[in-house]
Amino acid sequence: MQYSVLCPGQSSLIPPIRSALRSVLRSALRDCRHQTLTLVKDITPQIFRTQSHPDFSPVGWHLGHIAYTESLWVAEHLAGLPRQFSQYERLFAADGLPKSERQNLPALDQILAYLQAVRSQTLDYLNSSDLENIRLWHWLIQHESQHAETIAMVLAMHQTNCGAFVYPKVQPVSFSESNNMVHIEAGSATVGSDAPEAIDNERPAHLVSTESYWIDRAPVTCGQYQRFIEAGGYRDAKWWSPAGWQWLKSANVDKPRYESSRESGQTGLNTTVESDYPVCGVSWYEADAYARFVGKRLPTEAEWEKAVRVEKTPEKTPEKTPKKTLEDRRDRTIDSIVQDGVVQVGSVWEWTDTWFSAYSGFQPFPYKGYSQLYFDGEHRVLKGGSWATPKWVRRPSFRNWYHPHRRAVFAGFRCVISSSETDRN
Ligand code: AVJ
Ligand code: FE
Repeated sequence: MQYSVLCPGQSSLIPPIRSALRSVLRSALRDCRHQTLTLVKDITPQIFRTQSHPDFSPVGWHLGHIAYTESLWVAEHLAGLPRQFSQYERLFAADGLPKSERQNLPALDQILAYLQAVRSQTLDYLNSSDLENIRLWHWLIQHESQHAETIAMVLAMHQTNCGAFVYPKVQPVSFSESNNMVHIEAGSATVGSDAPEAIDNERPAHLVSTESYWIDRAPVTCGQYQRFIEAGGYRDAKWWSPAGWQWLKSANVDKPRYESSRESGQTGLNTTVESDYPVCGVSWYEADAYARFVGKRLPTEAEWEKAVRVEKTPEKTPEKTPKKTLEDRRDRTIDSIVQDGVVQVGSVWEWTDTWFSAYSGFQPFPYKGYSQLYFDGEHRVLKGGSWATPKWVRRPSFRNWYHPHRRAVFAGFRCVISSSETDRN
């Protein structure tokens, strides 16, 4: 299927804009690839081709799949060129082989050559492209970064170091216990985005209204979570949803999967638990149980997205209404927003109470299997981003999704309380 069919009606760009846009895309592609390759800089052949967990493909598969996807969408769909490396098609297509059969891989050098060959074809095409298909270029970068984060997860499961030099450090939580929640007013706020880089599932931007609520200013820390563990939280059904308790009985877990270390500034790599760092590597069920234990609940996606966009009340500019502020801050990275915001985000993904589903007016892009396949009532939305999430993915509207039992994601959570609950007490 041609892209023009999927995304019709884009107006033509004037030449100077087009050439500026080309150079923006070139450097975005380069930065993205640099992060991907940094992750595998010191990888051993063994780790390159071994599954760390039955739910995850080996690192080498993700690299090949990144190249395959780029050749499929740029060379074939955009440029209309015959696909190179057709011998890799079955191996690296998402619907090619089952995950357990993805270990018989070409050597790392061959896959790096594959990435490079596809990339040079991509850059050639970019130079002549009219860029009417700007969303597809952004999608390509977003897609690669998501596989790069999965590579980081696989490496963490293998207990091996990765990417320490290009990735930001996980920040310790900096709020005291007495000041760790913030009140958010009732009213409507924009959820989602129509920016060119927004994925199909983020569109269209729309207003959602919420009741007023209190939200944790930072993710739950290892120290806080430790109290749940020490109070026997993993042994007491009363904190768990029925599905969560059932999961727990078969999962055989009693603490988060990953640990954080001040030394590395990352999660999943060391063995010390730092009490003021966010919990990382819990399932949705554990997050939900902890929230019940402390008399709170998980935020909805809209509550999370709204809180992230709320700015500290500027003392001398009362004319700035909160609604305008929310609109202004929509398509910035979460890191730039939270600098003058009321919450701390971006060290871990955060589970929300929301099931992943389509916004009204959803249109699949660039193919149905990207998001629509997962609107199945079995995946929960995660928001924010971890140390392994690059800044071009870290936006308030971005929606990650996983099954509620998944623990390999660099995910923690924060809690909320409805204002109506606090009024009653
Ligand atoms: C959004 C991270 C859950 O990796 O399964 C990559 C992203 N989709 N290629 C995944 C994705 C197709 C997706 N997640
Ligand atoms: Fe993919």
